[in-house]
Amino acid sequence: MSSSEYAIEVKNLAKSYKDNKVLQGIDFRVKRGTMLALLGPNGAGKTTIVRILSTLLTFDKGSVTVEGYDAKRNPEKIRSVIGLTSQSATVDEMLTGRENLIMMGRLYRLTKTSARERANELLVDFSLVNAADRPAKTYSGGMRRRLDLAVSLIAAPPIIFLDEPTTGLDPRSRIAMWDIIRKLMKDGTTILLTTQYLEEADQLADNIILIDDGKIAAEGTAKELKSKMGNDKLELVFKNEQDLISAKSALKNKNISEDKSQFMLTVPVSNTNKDVKATLDALNEEGIAIEALALHKPTLDDVFLSITSKQDLPKKGKN
Ligand SMILES: Nc1ncnc2c1ncn2[C@@H]1O[C@H](COP(=O)(O)OP(=O)(O)OP(=O)(O)O)[C@@H](O)[C@H]1O
Ligand SMILES: [Mg+2]
Repeated sequence: MSSSEYAIEVKNLAKSYKDNKVLQGIDFRVKRGTMLALLGPNGAGKTTIVRILSTLLTFDKGSVTVEGYDAKRNPEKIRSVIGLTSQSATVDEMLTGRENLIMMGRLYRLTKTSARERANELLVDFSLVNAADRPAKTYSGGMRRRLDLAVSLIAAPPIIFLDEPTTGLDPRSRIAMWDIIRKLMKDGTTILLTTQYLEEADQLADNIILIDDGKIAAEGTAKELKSKMGNDKLELVFKNEQDLISAKSALKNKNISEDKSQFMLTVPVSNTNKDVKATLDALNEEGIAIEALALHKPTLDDVFLSITSKQDLPKKGKN
């Protein structure tokens, strides 16, 4: 094991398929025992990064180090310290869950006995005991995902790559998967996770990198990314248009936006407690009643959409 504080180091990574520049200078590091989430829309380059880090794919420029091993010089060393759960399932459909686990254990050179023991442990951890002796082809999507992850953990790797581990799962299975991932984090595993679910990154990751079009568009903790979106917003709803107009003039704030059809004002607040109080005091002084009020905090969705929304617009010519 390397003594570096970082389990993963990626410097100026670039990869093209012919003219398609899929990755254009990606830099990041992942501290040992933490989770980094790569977030980004379809085609951003997330899977490409995961495949390069797991040495399944070569790259054109830059350097990749996993657990201190260089991806170009020591790919086999890297493969011995990582577990990978890829976007497309890798289990053998004809084998049972238990057989899949044991087979993978044997591939990792566990003895027959320890492969069996480890399979048993994982079947319990992943709530697959009842289905353990059925062929994987009879599993539901959620069970398959759990088996996939279990298989990638057979050798108890210190680093795991999870490529969209919860895509297509129902909310209950997603939460069960999160619990499993949290347990891995508690055990000190370093995790690189890709996801299209902002909430997932928000819930689990220590750090988030937003990838867009092969480049890093933003990075930070969930909190930092949200704070980039600026202020909390106070939404105030009034009984009628007259109250709305009176409220607007009472508040004397240029940045207020209004929605006349809903009798609603939206007030940006920077020092939330103080500004909310001042707003309510001002309305109180004028005797204007509020029908409803809500405080809206920026979400990762706001960040994601504001950075990647150009994807949804029709492409314009160069100006
Ligand atoms: N084998 C390949 N040959 C040519 N282009 C490829 C190949 N694999 C991926 N690409 C291209 O690389 C880009 C990034 O793909 P990638 O699979 O990394 O995206 P992603 O972020 O994982 O997307 P998704 O969220 O849909 O899984 C896409 O434009 C894709 O078409
Ligand atoms: Mg992908």
